[in-house]
Amino acid sequence: MSKVLVTGGAGFLGSHLCERLLAEGHDVLCVDNYFTGTKRNVAHLMGDPMFELMRHDVTFPLYVEVDQIYNLACPASPIHYQHDPVQTTKTSVHGAINMLGLAKRVKARILQASTSEVYGDPEIHPQTEDYWGHVNPIGVRSCYDEGKRCAETLFFDYHRQHDLGIKVMRIFNTYGPRMHPNDGRVVSNFIVQALRGEPITIYGDGQQTRSFCYVDDLIDAMVRLMDTPPSFTGPVNVGNPHEFTMLELAHTVLELTGSRSELIFKDLPFDDPKQRQPDIALARQELDWEPTVELVEGLTRTIDYFRSTLSV
Ligand SMILES: NC(=O)c1ccc[n+]([C@@H]2O[C@H](COP(=O)([O-])OP(=O)(O)OC[C@H]3O[C@@H](n4cnc5c(N)ncnc54)[C@H](O)[C@@H]3O)[C@@H](O)[C@H]2O)c1
Repeated sequence: MSKVLVTGGAGFLGSHLCERLLAEGHDVLCVDNYFTGTKRNVAHLMGDPMFELMRHDVTFPLYVEVDQIYNLACPASPIHYQHDPVQTTKTSVHGAINMLGLAKRVKARILQASTSEVYGDPEIHPQTEDYWGHVNPIGVRSCYDEGKRCAETLFFDYHRQHDLGIKVMRIFNTYGPRMHPNDGRVVSNFIVQALRGEPITIYGDGQQTRSFCYVDDLIDAMVRLMDTPPSFTGPVNVGNPHEFTMLELAHTVLELTGSRSELIFKDLPFDDPKQRQPDIALARQELDWEPTVELVEGLTRTIDYFRSTLSV
């Protein structure tokens, strides 16, 4: 049994990670400032004596004794991270510095939830980990993209300079229960709009592609990465390489919800990447991992969650 700190633990991915770590018998400290996460996401874990919830902002130092740190704190959707872009950069950069400092002090192993956004609007397809990216440093998405890139730099500098045990995971689009219903991310958007009978908003012509990984698969890879030998640091891409166009996704959601919502088309937001797909050869090799939950199965579970939580 390890003492494990999960920052951003009351968010979408963090709450599933806490659940998984508790199921494996770990002692879990969940830290969150509730910017996008909620206590409701972890309410079902509160009765477990191995679970502890702490309100804390990672831009301030934290002094606790732990063996492992999963650093997930950071708003992940454009609507939320663009709401206060300066705070977003601070969360990524100061948050990384504080958590790395903590890991160094207590000799903990630390994993960073990085993102496919470090590749920006990629010129190669699919993206492998050795691709350095094509990122706008001054756009409205830069607070997130560059914040996450700087966090990766800090992780590797702490590793080189202080021999810290680090793991960097580049997460591609993930979906599932406990996604925020109003965060503008495409899967939750389409489901919520379909369940409410509102028009489904498609940006551009809907031909841009994305790949979606179901949350259980993602969390499985995260735990596997933490458990890899110290010589493996990543970065490692984790996501589902199976690509769909936004139009295909919209039609699948309509079919699974039985909704009669119409599709409406709006202009693409500035800086929106046209295509993004992970190359997961490294994850297959080093984590012995690949996604197992098919889109229809994952969407069905997600739709069930939104049906039970939304008043539609
Ligand atoms: N969900 C995805 O598809 C995806 C893709 C790539 C990367 N990621 C990364 O995974 C992590 C989790 O993402 P998510 O989808 O669960 O998002 P989320 O917004 O649901 O979770 C982030 C959590 O961090 C908390 N938080 C934000 N700022 C904080 C601060 N300063 N101090 C303490 N807590 C803070 C929020 O309240 C929230 O609970 C993020 O770092 C995100 O960048 C997610």
